[in-house]
Amino acid sequence: MKKRVAILISGGGSNMLALLRDMATGDHPAEPVLVASNDPTATGLTKAAAAGVPTAAVDHRPFGRDRAAFEAALLTHILATQPDILCLAGFMRVLTPAFVNRFTGRMLNIHPSLLPLYPGLHTHQRALDAGDAQAGCTVHEVTPILDDGPILGQARVPILPGDTADSLAARVLTQEHRLYPAVLRRFAAGDRAPIFL
Ligand code: GRF
Repeated sequence: MKKRVAILISGGGSNMLALLRDMATGDHPAEPVLVASNDPTATGLTKAAAAGVPTAAVDHRPFGRDRAAFEAALLTHILATQPDILCLAGFMRVLTPAFVNRFTGRMLNIHPSLLPLYPGLHTHQRALDAGDAQAGCTVHEVTPILDDGPILGQARVPILPGDTADSLAARVLTQEHRLYPAVLRRFAAGDRAPIFL
């Protein structure tokens, strides 16, 4: 039986697409069962539907500051597909410990920095401001502490003279699309040894 993977997105879903493409090739140990978003207008939802993957959207805005109520609504859609693994891919909402703890050890996230450097937002500008020679991305297990769980993989890129946050983000994103599928393929097969691209 393949591992059932639900993917959460908030926008274009380029990482989600990379995961779908990889799961559609060869003898992959996992299959996508849902792509869900906190934004009903996320263009990634259209791309997922075009790829034949069930989708769901729960707009977080009507819930205001009631995170638990938003998550309860989202969880209804997620649990209906009985996922084994949850992949956050460009998902821009902070999840409560109650939600995260339902998926301990089986929820992954990709973050656009070389964690533990630069958890949170504006990672590329922070690397540039610090004068770093390298940047990159990290796939990690999600724990209740933001961007803090066990690292499952990292990919590095050079920071080049004249780089802006946008040019660096584009270079890192290319590596995200390599790293996340490589990590999920291993994780779904039960291999949690970190990989470094
Ligand atoms: C990108 O900035 C990526 O680094 C981060 O989420 C953002 C959107 O990714 N993981 P995606 O194109 O929606 O996958």
